[in-house]
Amino acid sequence: MSSLYVMRPNIKTDGLCHLVKETGLQDFTIAEIGSFAGESAQIFLNGSAKKLYAIDLWMPITYNEKSERIGVRPHIAEAKFDQRLETWLSEGKDVVKLKMDMMDALSHVADHSLDLLYIDAEHTYEAVMAAVRAWLCKIKPGGFLAGHDYSSYHKPVMKAVDELAERFGPPRTFGDASWFFPVTVEWVHVHNHKGVCCVNLEDYENVWITP
Ligand SMILES: C[S@@+](CC[C@H](N)C(=O)[O-])C[C@H]1O[C@@H](n2cnc3c(N)ncnc32)[C@H](O)[C@@H]1O
Repeated sequence: MSSLYVMRPNIKTDGLCHLVKETGLQDFTIAEIGSFAGESAQIFLNGSAKKLYAIDLWMPITYNEKSERIGVRPHIAEAKFDQRLETWLSEGKDVVKLKMDMMDALSHVADHSLDLLYIDAEHTYEAVMAAVRAWLCKIKPGGFLAGHDYSSYHKPVMKAVDELAERFGPPRTFGDASWFFPVTVEWVHVHNHKGVCCVNLEDYENVWITP
């Protein structure tokens, strides 16, 4: 097998460990959008995740020129992920691999079931906002909306997170460029229209309509 680009050298591992610790979550349920080789998934599982949905296309289409140059290859990442998955399952961990687009994965995860949602897929403003809008209703009241790449290297992600801060308050950020917002949510169904959610009910202007 050719070599695999390492997503998370030590410093990036530490940052994500801090995120998990700071949420205070124990035995939590998480969905990770963008799992690649499973490095971050490993950190969540070490950090006492009870159930983890790992969502990734593992397809070349998701890679840009730069990624190709540094040697990222989705089939190698997937093979590495599968190797880790085998170990996790043999240890009795509840990990669900969803090889599909994040939008298709929505139907595999129950509404209001996640303690933590971690977005680390495409680094465009549109993709981050689309993930948040579509997946927000999956988070339990009192859960956390989180992700990666709040850094000047990924300005579109920063723009998205800064815009989210207008609704959720300032994000907590970490040494690996991870970020999170505690999400105080209430869920309502307006006009019996399933999939409508209302965020931060004390502020009725913050109404988001899910797709
Ligand atoms: C930066 S990597 C994830 C790294 C991983 N979280 C870690 O820290 O080790 C981004 C991943 O997102 C996946 N991805 C991009 N767009 C996606 C989409 N629309 N649906 C599912 N996965 C997607 C890519 O295939 C890629 O493996």
